[in-house]
This record gives sequence, structure tokens and C-alpha cells, in this order.
Amino acid sequence: MFVLIWLTLFVSVKGSIADTGVSAWGQQHCDGRYCVTLSERELTAEAGLCVVIPCSFTTADEFTPKHTVWYKCEASQHSCSDGDIIFHSNKNTDKKAQSGFEGRVSRLEPDVSQKNCSIIINDLKESDSGSYQLRVTGELNGKQDGFTFIPRVTVSVKVLNQKPTVMIPTLTEGQQATLTCTAPGLCSGSVPEITWTWRGAGGTESYITGNSTAFKTENLTAFTQRHISTLTFKSSAEQHNTTITCKIRFTGETTTEDASSLKVNYVKEVKITGVTSVREGNVLNLTCSVESFPPAHIVWRKVPSNTNLQTRNTDLHNDTVTLVTLNVTAENSGQYICMAKHLDKTLTSYVNVTVTWHTKIQNGSGCVLQSDVLTCVCISEGFPLPTIKWPLLENHTQYTLITTVSNHTVNSTVSLTVKNHGNSTVECVSNNGNGEERENLLVHKKHEQPSSFGLEFLKVIFAFLTGVLLSVIVCCLVKNCYRYNIYFSNYD
Ligand SMILES: *[C@@H]1O[C@H](CO)[C@@H](O)[C@H](O)[C@H]1NC(C)=O
Ligand SMILES: *[C@@H]1O[C@H](CO)[C@@H](O)[C@H](O)[C@H]1NC(C)=O
Ligand SMILES: *[C@@H]1O[C@H](CO)[C@@H](O)[C@H](O)[C@H]1NC(C)=O
Ligand SMILES: *[C@@H]1O[C@H](CO)[C@@H](O)[C@H](O)[C@H]1NC(C)=O
Ligand SMILES: *[C@@H]1O[C@H](CO)[C@@H](O)[C@H](O)[C@H]1NC(C)=O
Ligand SMILES: *[C@@H]1O[C@H](CO)[C@@H](O)[C@H](O)[C@H]1NC(C)=O
Ligand SMILES: *[C@@H]1O[C@H](CO)[C@@H](O)[C@H](O)[C@H]1NC(C)=O
Ligand SMILES: *[C@@H]1O[C@H](CO)[C@@H](O)[C@H](O)[C@H]1NC(C)=O
Ligand SMILES: *[C@@H]1O[C@H](CO)[C@@H](O)[C@H](O)[C@H]1NC(C)=O
Ligand SMILES: *[C@@H]1O[C@H](CO)[C@@H](O)[C@H](O)[C@H]1NC(C)=O
Ligand SMILES: *[C@@H]1O[C@H](CO)[C@@H](O)[C@H](O)[C@H]1NC(C)=O
Ligand SMILES: *[C@@H]1O[C@H](CO)[C@@H](O)[C@H](O)[C@H]1NC(C)=O
Repeated sequence: MFVLIWLTLFVSVKGSIADTGVSAWGQQHCDGRYCVTLSERELTAEAGLCVVIPCSFTTADEFTPKHTVWYKCEASQHSCSDGDIIFHSNKNTDKKAQSGFEGRVSRLEPDVSQKNCSIIINDLKESDSGSYQLRVTGELNGKQDGFTFIPRVTVSVKVLNQKPTVMIPTLTEGQQATLTCTAPGLCSGSVPEITWTWRGAGGTESYITGNSTAFKTENLTAFTQRHISTLTFKSSAEQHNTTITCKIRFTGETTTEDASSLKVNYVKEVKITGVTSVREGNVLNLTCSVESFPPAHIVWRKVPSNTNLQTRNTDLHNDTVTLVTLNVTAENSGQYICMAKHLDKTLTSYVNVTVTWHTKIQNGSGCVLQSDVLTCVCISEGFPLPTIKWPLLENHTQYTLITTVSNHTVNSTVSLTVKNHGNSTVECVSNNGNGEERENLLVHKKHEQPSSFGLEFLKVIFAFLTGVLLSVIVCCLVKNCYRYNIYFSNYD
């Protein structure tokens, strides 16, 4: 019971303090039945922008408020005077606002009966710093009266620190893009001037050809506006890494700017560099590169395989990839593909690699001379395919030349009639542009094969002689019989 009484006492005491002291929604100060609530006693603002002084008041019931007056004077001054007026809601009074504030101060609530004395001061200058005081004029029991509230609001205007807000969408080469720059502060003062500047490569000021800018002001509320400038242009690869600056100029030469680096998605052609014709055993060194942003991912493949070849990145960036094959063999010949994956695009470039090797005159080459006919065969392998020349033919017009090709092998067979061809050699020259090989082919003479011919001859002779002998024997026998017959006939 005692506790409850004490508690009630405490609450009531606290309630009475609240009337003249601090509350959750502001500081109310009362002087009799005249109260003012200034929720922000200390306000900071930035030059070029604006400040809102939130304010409400109450008066004695018999007082009818008609106008609000705001003063700005030194904090040391006990009370501001008529010369310190910065705002007077009565446009017909001779008490004029200081010319420096003309048009810059507006009350948020034009209906005085709402007892809302909030004001907004636009186009702030650093010299606007100071203490602001409110007076309400009106009628008390039918007579002109007014009440100046003691509490003041201190406003400090600092240099402009807020930056514009620059919004850059994803820029893609060749596509139109719109950048927006929003001025800081939502004020209803003078319209700021917004300019765009572009610094090209090397940081020199340049301009984007074919650009267009647009300015617009959005009315948010009666006292808040948003100022926006848009810059529209077609992105190009050259703009990548360059700087765009949005500069805002408020009245009183107050400026603020924001610089942004442009990132343009672009990809240039896929370039393959390196020597594509390599001799067997040498190094195949091909580089595939693509200039792009963001960096492309490059892979090498050998057609028609679908597997990526082992490569290495020569750069810190992955947009240059070198394919190195040491000690190439004929199998390394063929078509290679370099594929660069950039965002959702895949660019390709092809290269034909040829592995060349020296010509080699093969076993099986040689010449045969039979009677007066010389037949020479020269077989040579190489890549590219070699061509075979016979210097011997320079001195002949009558010959037959047969050339057959199988894979990388050429068979050149020449036959011609030669008179008194010595026991010499015949030169075969093979050349495939990679190297020339000469070889002296030995001539194998095929004579009339006397041994076998003689034997055959002897056989014929022998057969003939045998025939003759047999004939003679038969003849003799016949002869003798005949004679014998005659002999016997003689004895008949
Ligand atoms: C005064 O009026 C303005 C504008 O209507 C409003 O935003 C603000 O909240 C009001 N202040 C008070 C204390 O009622
Ligand atoms: C836009 O183009 C105009 C000329 O048409 C130029 O003066 C201005 O600097 C350009 N702006 C930018 C940001 O490049
Ligand atoms: C914004 O308000 C101003 C006056 O405060 C007026 O002149 C202008 O036409 C309005 N603009 C829009 C887009 O409503
Ligand atoms: C773009 O700028 C970045 C960082 O400043 C730098 O690393 C890169 O090399 C630049 N790229 C080009 C193409 O200039
Ligand atoms: C491949 O070529 C590049 C550029 O020509 C060179 O820097 C590199 O050393 C070469 N690599 C080999 C293994 O030859
Ligand atoms: C290059 O590729 C490697 C692995 O493929 C990756 O770890 C690295 O971040 C890439 N570098 C760049 C600059 O993209
Ligand atoms: C190159 O390859 C060939 C065939 O595979 C091999 O005989 C030769 O020894 C290799 N040479 C080198 C230098 O690796
Ligand atoms: C590469 O060779 C293929 C056939 O093997 C041919 O169709 C293509 O045109 C060649 N490409 C180049 C660049 O020589
Ligand atoms: C061709 O004949 C000339 C003159 O008879 C001789 O000097 C030359 O060596 C001959 N060439 C060949 C390839 O036999
Ligand atoms: C020619 O090449 C084919 C396949 O390319 C192979 O099957 C064949 O054996 C080769 N012929 C010779 C004579 O090397
Ligand atoms: C070369 O060609 C000739 C005639 O065309 C033929 O008689 C000979 O057998 C061939 N030699 C080889 C090794 O193919
Ligand atoms: C003739 O050819 C034979 C065998 O082919 C060889 O032994 C001989 O030395 C050659 N004679 C001359 C003069 O070249």
C-alpha cells in the first residue's frame, strides 16, 4: 500500500518534468501556456543543400496564431531583433526578411492553425550557420499580439561532402547504355547544374561522340525534389577502363563530383600467332590470345578431338594461352582450334599445322640396264610430298616417266634407251622445299645372259646333232638292209 502511493507520487513528478523537459519526440519548452517543441536543437547541414527545422507550438486558448516569424541571430544575443528576420509568413508586413534569405525559406505547413512551425532553408551557404528563433504573431482577445519563444535551434553549415550517386549498368560493347547521376540532398531549392565529363585513355579529357544527356527533376513531396541527369551513349571497347565523372554545381559555386571507372564487356577477335609449319623434331609453339573484358577462358583442341590440350598461360591473364609441343611428329599435323569462351559467347579460330620432314630416298631405288634399255626407279618419302628430278634426262628427249604416289611416298620410274651407257651411276634428286636429297643410283647391267643362252644353244645343237645322228643311224641301217636285201636277192 505504501509502495503504491510512493510509485504514484514518482510518476506524477516525472510527468510534470516532461512538460518542460525532454520527451521521446522532442524538446518541449513551455513558458506559461506557450510551448514550442524543437525536436532537433542542433542541426548540421551542408552548403548547397538544405536543412529542415522541425517545429511545433501550442499557445494559450485565447491566442489565435496568424503568422510565424523566424529570426537568425548570434547565439550571444539575448533576443533577435526585426533586422534578423529571415522568414515572415505575412507577405504584407513591412517587416521584411533579410534579402540573403529571400526565396530560400519555406514553411512546411502553410496552415498556421496546425501549429506546425517547421521550415526548410534551401541553397545553404556556410554563412547560414547560426541560431534560429521562432516568433508567432496573432490575436489575443481581438488585439494584435505575438510571442517569441526562447529556445533556439543551432544550425551549422559545413562544406559539401556528399557525393552524387552514379549508377552504371552493365556496359556491353556496341550497346546503348544509360548512366544516371543523382544529385545529393532532397531539397526544393535551386536546380543544380549536372555535367558529365569523360576521360579517355591516358586520362585526357575527351568526349563520347554521339552521347546525349537528359536532366529531370522528380517532385517527391512538396518540399523534396530529386535531380537526375542521364548520359546515354553506345559503349565501345575503347571506353573500358576510362573514367566518367559526374559533377554537380549548386548555387554559390558549391560543387561535388564523383568519378567512376567504366567497365565495358567486350571481346576482340581470337588471334593465333606462331609458326604453323614445323619440321619434325622441332617445337610447335602457337599462341592464342583474345583481348577482352572480363578475361576470356581459352582452350586449345586438335580437330576432331573434343578434349582440351595441355597448355600454359603465358600471361597473368588467362586471355593468352600458349600451346607448346616439343619434338613434333607427323601425328601433330592437322587442324587445331582455339576456343575462347567469353561470357555466353564462344569464339573460335582455326589453324592448320603441318609437320614437315626431309625427303628420304628409300631402299628399292636403283637402275637396271638391259640391252640398251635403262630403267631407273627412285622412291622418296617426305612431307610435303617431294618431287623427283632426273638430271640424266637433260640430255634425252625420248623417255618414259611414270610417277606414282602413295601417302607420303613418290615412286618415279624412268626408262630410256641408251647407247654405250658406261658402268656408271644415275643421279636422282628429291626435293620437297624442306631440303634436297641427291643419290647416285647404281646401274646394274643385265647382259645377254650368255651362260644360259649358250646352254640353250648347246641343248639345241645337242638335240640337233642327236637328231642328225639318229637319222644317220636309221639311214645307215636302212641302207645296209637294202644292200643286204639286194645281196640276198642276188643269191635268189
Ligand atoms: C509539420 O508539417 C510537415 C509537412 O506537412 C510534416 O512533415 C511534419 O511532420 C509536421 N511536423 C509536426 C511536428 O507536426
Ligand atoms: C557529349 O557530346 C558533346 C558534343 O556533342 C560533348 O561536348 C560532350 O563533352 C560529350 N559528353 C561526354 C560525357 O562525352
Ligand atoms: C515539380 O514542382 C514544381 C514546383 O514545385 C513544378 O514547377 C514542376 O512542374 C513539378 N514537376 C513535376 C514533374 O511534377
Ligand atoms: C584496367 O585497369 C586495371 C586496374 O586499374 C588494370 O589492371 C588493367 O590492366 C587495365 N586494363 C586495360 C586494358 O588498360
Ligand atoms: C613460344 O613463343 C613465345 C613467343 O614467340 C616465346 O616467348 C616462348 O619462349 C616460346 N616457347 C618455346 C617453348 O619456344
Ligand atoms: C586463370 O585461370 C586459373 C585457373 O584456370 C585461375 O585460378 C585464375 O584465377 C585465372 N586468372 C585470371 C586472371 O582470370
Ligand atoms: C623425338 O621423337 C622421336 C620419335 O618419337 C624420337 O626418336 C626422338 O628421340 C625424340 N627426340 C627428342 C630430342 O626427344
Ligand atoms: C585447313 O585445312 C582444312 C582441310 O584439312 C581446310 O578445309 C581449311 O580451309 C584449312 N584452313 C586454313 C586456314 O588453311
Ligand atoms: C649432258 O651432255 C653434256 C654434253 O654432252 C655433258 O657435259 C653433261 O654432263 C651431260 N649431262 C648429264 C646429266 O649426263
Ligand atoms: C597410307 O596411309 C593409310 C592411312 O593413312 C595407311 O592405312 C596405309 O597403310 C598407308 N600406306 C602406306 C604404303 O604407308
Ligand atoms: C615403282 O613403280 C614401278 C612402275 O610403276 C613399279 O614397277 C615398282 O614396283 C614400284 N616400286 C615400288 C617400291 O613401289
Ligand atoms: C662396274 O660395276 C661393277 C658392279 O656393279 C663394279 O664392281 C665395278 O667396279 C664397276 N666398274 C666401274 C668402272 O665403275
